[in-house]
Amino acid sequence: MSFYYIHSALMFIGFIFIIIGVFSARFLKKMRWWLKLHKTMNIIGALSTIIGIALMTSYISYTGSKHFNHIHSYLGFFVGFLSVITPLIGFVQLKALKSKIKFRPIHRFLGRLLIISMIFNILLGLRFAGII
Ligand code: HEM
Ligand code: HEM
Repeated sequence: MSFYYIHSALMFIGFIFIIIGVFSARFLKKMRWWLKLHKTMNIIGALSTIIGIALMTSYISYTGSKHFNHIHSYLGFFVGFLSVITPLIGFVQLKALKSKIKFRPIHRFLGRLLIISMIFNILLGLRFAGII
């Protein structure tokens, strides 16, 4: 049972850090430290999310239960994928300023998609666990 608590706690922590990071890019651009805050908060948030997924996946494997047995699991792995790809594109957009590929809008879009997917999956997780 405690694994469920650890999983949900890491997901909530990840979500809050990511929200703070995105808030910084959206509303604090006048401050010279906005990017530092954005990077730090989002990297910690993404790591917390990835570790939370890895722990739950390992626990499910360890107990011999079935993976992908709920829409929460599918959306959850999608969130994991976005948590890796979004910060990577964040770094790439700073390095490839002259690239023909428009990394900036892609990064923004994926970041927003990540937040929406996390909100849905937290609600699904709470429902799955019988809390709401
Ligand atoms: C953005 C937030 C979340 C993500 C990305 C996420 C992701 C995942 C993933 C990928 C799995 C499936 C692992 C597998 O099949 O190998 C899983 C399972 C699970 N999650 Fe979450 N989760 C999130 C939030 C929550 C929350 C808030 C709760 C409950 C309070 C929760 C409860 C559960 C439970 C009970 C399972 C186990 C399902 C089973 O026994 O098969 N999750 N989660
Ligand atoms: C999970 C990780 C991340 C998420 C969810 C995320 C999300 C976002 C979002 C939603 C925006 C647009 C904000 C707005 O104006 O509405 C943004 C902007 C930005 N992000 Fe990230 N980000 C992440 C990680 C990173 C990293 C690691 C870097 C760089 C090393 C980075 C660099 C930037 C930059 C430079 C902008 C400003 C671009 C612009 O004004 O269009 N991001 N980010």
